[in-house]
Amino acid sequence: SILMKGVRHLSDSGITRLPDRYVLPAPDRPGAGLATTTSTSRVKLPVVDLARLRDPSQRAAVLQTLDAACRGYGFFQVVNHGVDGAVIAGMRDVARRFFELPLPERARYMSPDVRAAVRYGTSFNQAKDAVLCWRDFLKLVCHPLRDVVAAWPREPADLRDVASGYAAASHGLFMELMEAALQALGIAADGGVLGELAAGSSHMMTVNCYPACPQPELTLGMPAHSDYGLFTFVLQDHVEGLQVMHGGRWLTVDPIPGSFVVNVGDHLEIYSNGAYKSVLHRVRVNSTRPRISVASFHSLPAERVVGPAPELVDEAAGKPRRYMDTDFATFLAYLASADGKDKTFLQSRM
Ligand code: SIN
Ligand code: FE2
Repeated sequence: SILMKGVRHLSDSGITRLPDRYVLPAPDRPGAGLATTTSTSRVKLPVVDLARLRDPSQRAAVLQTLDAACRGYGFFQVVNHGVDGAVIAGMRDVARRFFELPLPERARYMSPDVRAAVRYGTSFNQAKDAVLCWRDFLKLVCHPLRDVVAAWPREPADLRDVASGYAAASHGLFMELMEAALQALGIAADGGVLGELAAGSSHMMTVNCYPACPQPELTLGMPAHSDYGLFTFVLQDHVEGLQVMHGGRWLTVDPIPGSFVVNVGDHLEIYSNGAYKSVLHRVRVNSTRPRISVASFHSLPAERVVGPAPELVDEAAGKPRRYMDTDFATFLAYLASADGKDKTFLQSRM
């Protein structure tokens, strides 16, 4: 079936017409609603320069940039992060080679269990999607790294080594950015949530493959969604496709080689009591250039109940609590609800 074989297989087979199962209804297509604006609006996301963040004389200015980005766009990009270029290039390269493996080699990692340590699949939410998305993916659970790596694919032979090095680097950057975000929010960074994260966090990675698509205007690589955790790091190649909702419009993120695109997830929106925004984003595909991305999802342990930081709630001072405490089961219910994008679900049940 289409579901078993995925879109890489379809693209490689040389189809010239998009199969019906991938054709979105007209109002959901990527160009819908764009008639009154330009369909090619690009955005250069705010830049958070980690070399400057690490310089005590410049830290305050960078914290301000970070804070404004998290409140305004919910997205920023991280440059001068110090992650070895070979680690990044190696991750992109092994990602590409994984999707070039013969289908049976990839298919051995298919699993219906969404919590499996490794899972190969297609579309966005295979079990639920009425219309399929033009995306294949490899999901890798990354925590605890030492224990899960043995479950990761054995091919390409260097995948475990390269992806675990990349995962460790991503986790390090996440901790550094969380510390900065807490400081920007005025939350004491020692102990507290940072200590919790150091003791154990949740971390998973999805490697996404969006092959060239014969009719890209009729489908999406990923539908509009927000992310679940605290911060997501996206490593993209030079092919654009990621779009961010801002001011009621979809803006295409300009890929900056060697940088990470970072976005605020639902957990950080809740923890910041709504100061930081977990915004909708989606992925467009194109007819000529395959695109690969690696998204790293960082958060608190899955069983942790997340609510607004106590420091940010003060009813007497006119800072009411804006979100209910939310555990994983509540989140799953919210994602399964009629429209999983509507965070008023979380706000209305405090
Ligand atoms: C996402 O994970 O939401 C988008 C990743 C990408 O840019 O492909
Ligand atoms: Fe996402």
